[in-house]
Amino acid sequence: MRYLNFDNISVNEDWAFDKVRSIEQWTHGYHRYPAKFLPNVVKKIIENYALPELPVADPFAGCGTTLVEAKIHGFESYGVDINPVAGLIAKVKTKPIMPDLLDSYYSDLINQFDLYAESNLYNIKKHDKLDYWFDKKEKYKIIFIYSIICKIDNNDIRDFFLVSLSHILKNCSKWLQSSTKPQIDKNKKPSDSFILFKSHTQMMIRKNTEYYNELLHSSNLDILCNMTIGDARNTNWASNSIGTIITSPPYVTSYEYADIHQLTGYLYDYFDDLKQFRQKFIGTSYSNKGSIDVGSLLGKKIVNALFAKDPKTARNVACYFNNMEIVAKEIYRVLQTNGKACIVIGNTTVKNVHIQAAEVFWEFLKKAGFKTNEQNIIKRCIPCKLMPTIRNVKTGRFAKRTDPNIKEVYPNEYILIVEK
Ligand SMILES: C[S@@+](CC[C@H](N)C(=O)[O-])C[C@H]1O[C@@H](n2cnc3c(N)ncnc32)[C@H](O)[C@@H]1O
Repeated sequence: MRYLNFDNISVNEDWAFDKVRSIEQWTHGYHRYPAKFLPNVVKKIIENYALPELPVADPFAGCGTTLVEAKIHGFESYGVDINPVAGLIAKVKTKPIMPDLLDSYYSDLINQFDLYAESNLYNIKKHDKLDYWFDKKEKYKIIFIYSIICKIDNNDIRDFFLVSLSHILKNCSKWLQSSTKPQIDKNKKPSDSFILFKSHTQMMIRKNTEYYNELLHSSNLDILCNMTIGDARNTNWASNSIGTIITSPPYVTSYEYADIHQLTGYLYDYFDDLKQFRQKFIGTSYSNKGSIDVGSLLGKKIVNALFAKDPKTARNVACYFNNMEIVAKEIYRVLQTNGKACIVIGNTTVKNVHIQAAEVFWEFLKKAGFKTNEQNIIKRCIPCKLMPTIRNVKTGRFAKRTDPNIKEVYPNEYILIVEK
């Protein structure tokens, strides 16, 4: 039996973008986000493949890179993500605010910092887990900033400052920032929340002004960007309504988005029970209860190879594939006839088994009814600075370069372009 294999596709240097355009352009640098799109990739996809005048959508919208670029390029856009932290970031990044208004709210907010008194906050109840991550002094400052932001009467401006606060939480806590796993950094001296909040917000304010002026100039200021919290397997988008899907699905058992965003999640009361919340995410290593039968020949082969080594991981991967098959059907449903889906996806290695997520998803796209042509698979190099490229071969987790058991993962990724 011959299985699909994209290894022989040559890397297309036109999609490398190691020196083009800043990743901080427009609002893209408001908040860090794991495995976020390189804006240049989305820009080029829009310029080459987006169907004119029709909406662009991203069912794994994350922090909203597709939506920001769609707006800059004059396209209406829709985004869905299961992660409420992503929802907040993407909403704010796509919503330019009149600069003078923002300045005035910022001054009012900062002036209130003089009123800070730790003892006034002792009665505010927040999730106990925050005590694990924050020194007491910093925790109260954070809760203070949060409580004064919450009193702001303008929703867009309140959310703008909430994104700034969310971004600085890790710097102001004991979180080990070089790790993709939540763990305490014993040697860390957390940053001062007031100082960091001011400097990060000032950067965001400058970027908002550039973004606002660009959109004003191109008359794209009021173009619709609709970001909602939802499930890529079952969006509420109408059938045949979207011109172009541009998306990058989660990787399997790599990033635990729920865990990574727990500081914001607990502070903003987005969730209470992390265990339960994790289950909603495709690609999590906490979901291993489903069937190990997979609707792809290659997928079955991968799951069987893993099963012999580690049944739990095999179940995670089977569950991932089964979810991704549902996603393929869903994006077929929402696209118009002749609409295009552009999916940025990488392969990886877990427990020494090559997980060809790209090839398996290609199979699912075909099964869902898409017209596929292998000429429309672009292979690109991922710049190392954007994505951890090494894993511990024993645990399968992302690792430091100093770890003796490391192995390169995701050196390349694929852009799969298919048509309904
Ligand atoms: C690779 S990231 C996408 C990053 C995005 N392209 C960006 O630029 O920020 C994958 C995203 O899938 C989301 N996700 C995981 N399971 C999901 C589900 N069932 N429905 C919708 N989104 C989901 C994660 O929260 C994460 O934001």
